[in-house]
Amino acid sequence: MTLSRAATKLRSHLEHLKEEGVREIEASPERVAALRRRLKGLKTAPAVAAPVRREADLDVVAGLAKIAAEIAVCKKCRLCESRTNTVPGQGNTRPEIMFIGEGPGADEDAQGLAFVGRAGQLLTQIIEAMGFTRDEVFIGNVVKCRPPDNRAPMPDEMAACLPYLERQIALLKPKVIVALGATAVKGLFNDPKVQITKIRGRWMKYSGIDTMPTLHPAYLLRNPPAKRDVWEDMKTVLAHLGRPIPSKRN
Ligand code: URA
Ligand code: SF4
Repeated sequence: MTLSRAATKLRSHLEHLKEEGVREIEASPERVAALRRRLKGLKTAPAVAAPVRREADLDVVAGLAKIAAEIAVCKKCRLCESRTNTVPGQGNTRPEIMFIGEGPGADEDAQGLAFVGRAGQLLTQIIEAMGFTRDEVFIGNVVKCRPPDNRAPMPDEMAACLPYLERQIALLKPKVIVALGATAVKGLFNDPKVQITKIRGRWMKYSGIDTMPTLHPAYLLRNPPAKRDVWEDMKTVLAHLGRPIPSKRN
C-alpha cells in the first residue's frame, strides 16, 4: 500500500467513525510508535500523529494525520537526507498549550516522537509542575527532521518546514504557544538576532496566538538555576489561562 493510499484509508475510516457518532479515539504514544514500526516497510511515519484523548475532534485528527503523512515523505530541505524518522509532534488535539522546540535530537529521531530524551524528561516535569499532563498539551518542533550532529536548524531549513507547523497550529488552535529557546523563536519569527535571555517572559503573537518565549529545557540541563526564570514564565502562562498556580516548583 502506498503512503497516500494509507492516509486516504485512515481518513475514510475516521470519517466513517465520525458518521457513526464516535467522538473519542484513544492512541497512546506507545501505540503510535508501534504503528510507526509496522509502517516502516512503507518508508513512512505513521499517518496518526497524535495521542488522542477526551472529545477528540476527528477533523483535527484527520488533518494532523494528513500533515504527518506529508512530512513523512517531505524532501523540502536537506534535513531529509540524514533523518531516521520524521517527528511531526504529538499530543492533545484541543490543547490549551502548544510547546514548540527547535527540532528532533537523537532520541526523537529514533522514536519519531518529540521531546522524549533528557530535555524531554525535563519538559515533562515542567508540564506536570504546571498542573497538566503531556497528553493534555501538544508538543512539537519548528523542524520535523533531526539536524545532523545536534547542530541547530538553519534559517532556510526552518523556513522550509514552517508551513507544516502553521497548518498544525491552525488545526489545533492552542490558547497559548510556549516557544522553547532562542532557535524556536528565531524560526517562528524569522529573526536571526533573537536573544532569548532578553526577550523571554514577555508575550509575543504568532499566527494570532499569544506566544510566550522561554528558555529551552536543554539549556536548563546545563544551567539548572535558570529553571527559576522558566517557572516565572510558566506562571505568567498559567495566569493568562486563568489556571491555578501551583506553589511547587521543580
Ligand atoms: N529538543 C528540541 O528542541 N526538540 C525535541 O523534540 C527534543 C529536544
Ligand atoms: Fe521537510 Fe521539514 Fe524535514 Fe525539511 S525538516 S525535510 S522541510 S519535514
